[in-house]
Amino acid sequence: EGLPTTLEGRRKALELLAAEVEQCEKCPEMFSTRTQTVFGVGNIVPELCFVGEAPGADEDRQGEPFVGAAGQLLNKIIAAMGMSREEVFICNTVKCRPPCRTGNVPPTPKQRENCRPFFERQIELLQPKFICCLGATAAQNVLNTTMGIFKLRGRFHEYKGIPVLCTLHPSFLLREPGAKKDCWDDMKMLLRRMGRPIPG
Ligand code: URA
Repeated sequence: EGLPTTLEGRRKALELLAAEVEQCEKCPEMFSTRTQTVFGVGNIVPELCFVGEAPGADEDRQGEPFVGAAGQLLNKIIAAMGMSREEVFICNTVKCRPPCRTGNVPPTPKQRENCRPFFERQIELLQPKFICCLGATAAQNVLNTTMGIFKLRGRFHEYKGIPVLCTLHPSFLLREPGAKKDCWDDMKMLLRRMGRPIPG
């Protein structure tokens, strides 16, 4: 499929893709347990796109990525970068909440594979100038690697010609606040590459 040439065309194509995601039944266990799909939110002409792993319970309820505790921390990170949640795009590699008895679990290899075409098309339509992967699952999925997040973070990778910076997941930072400085180092590296001022 071709790419839309106007902003309105892009908006419509993203709406169509989101509608397709809403209808998806590829993963029966997620189709039957989800409240709704979680496509993504934000600026559809993004300089920067944040990519997480999959919706958690809060996101499944609200239909928006990163609205729970991890999302509150992500909002703080974005603000500390001198940006706003509205000016970036935020999504996940997997669009449904992987079911589990308590808490949240990472998506299975099959769930990632099933959802990958949606993610790829979404990025193709958004054409972000930069991608920031949050946590190992997103990073491994986007970069098609099994390497751990501590090896992937702190340097630039590439996804289809787009520079990708990986950092620690906000949920991990909530459990390990001592690691926040590593995340901030990564965000400073990203801002530098984006040619943006580095606050603080
Ligand atoms: N964690 C994620 O990876 N994505 C969300 O949308 C929320 C929490």
